[in-house]
Amino acid sequence: MSETTDKKPAKPVVLTCAQPTGRLHLGNYLGAVLNWGRMQDDHECYFGIVDQHAITVPTVPAQLRENTYSCLAQYVACGLDPARSRLFVQSHVLGHTELAWVLGCLCPLGQLERMTQFKDKSRKQQSVDAGLLFYPVLMAADILLYNADLVPVGDDQKQHLELARDLAEKFNHRYSETFKLPAPFISKVGSRIMSLQDPTAKMSKSDPNQAGTVYVTDRPDEIRKKVMSSVTDSGAEVRAADDKPGIRNLLTIMAGCTGRDVAVLEAEFAGKGYGDFKKAVADAVVATLDPVRLRYDELIKDREELARILKAGAESAQATAFRTLSKVHRKVGFVERPR
Ligand code: TRP
Repeated sequence: MSETTDKKPAKPVVLTCAQPTGRLHLGNYLGAVLNWGRMQDDHECYFGIVDQHAITVPTVPAQLRENTYSCLAQYVACGLDPARSRLFVQSHVLGHTELAWVLGCLCPLGQLERMTQFKDKSRKQQSVDAGLLFYPVLMAADILLYNADLVPVGDDQKQHLELARDLAEKFNHRYSETFKLPAPFISKVGSRIMSLQDPTAKMSKSDPNQAGTVYVTDRPDEIRKKVMSSVTDSGAEVRAADDKPGIRNLLTIMAGCTGRDVAVLEAEFAGKGYGDFKKAVADAVVATLDPVRLRYDELIKDREELARILKAGAESAQATAFRTLSKVHRKVGFVERPR
């Protein structure tokens, strides 16, 4: 190996995590996972499935376990590549909760009580456990454990990321320079995919009208049915106008699936009716998701392969996590662990 390869500047570290919530939909795919996949060559990527976060609200154990496998299989099917990235389950890597403890000892209680997501979630529950309050500290630990430069997150997680930055700064200030300040990475393309039945609401797994949500594992006939019966607007022009949220959403979806610009698609469908347009959108979505579903179907049956992926991901993540944690423990004054 030549000398220059050793001196190659380190790639920026990207980390993002998601809860094992079951099925991913087209909004998750076009708005998030597809973009994560595109970062894999130029970044050192960590993708975590955060099961420890999942238990901050009531969960059924067997379901949590199944959802974790299923999410992993879906992420791989959607293009997250275990050979280029570290795909891991949070509870497999020792250090997340340990770092969260140290960070929690630097975090004012009031700051956690003011988190909007905590307020929302606790309003919906009869009794609130401490884990829910501590959730953002654990998330900060997820990020800082790997010294992430960039954290792809949705808008709803920006406040949590701010806390991670605050805690990193506090630690650096109280002890000594240790953590980089992670920056949010909010992608523009396709980040707002709306329900096919109500284009003013985001596409969602919890939408009571499931006809509005396309899942990445939907079969072609299900996809076509959902797209063809999507709500459109009055008028007949295929344009992404403000008063045409339904058509605009379909254009965004088609642009996301084909990689073509909305303006180009508008020109292509000038003078054509909604029917033709919807058929083309359905074709584009099927072409995008069909390989995802086929790969998923294979993987979900292959528990050995899933276990191999998780083992490799956990080992690789653990090496980084352990280095950070040792440094942190040393800085706060813990006696070095006997080896
Ligand atoms: N709270 C995030 C969500 O619900 C999930 C998450 C946990 C996360 N740890 C993270 C996201 C670290 C980014 C980085 O979407």
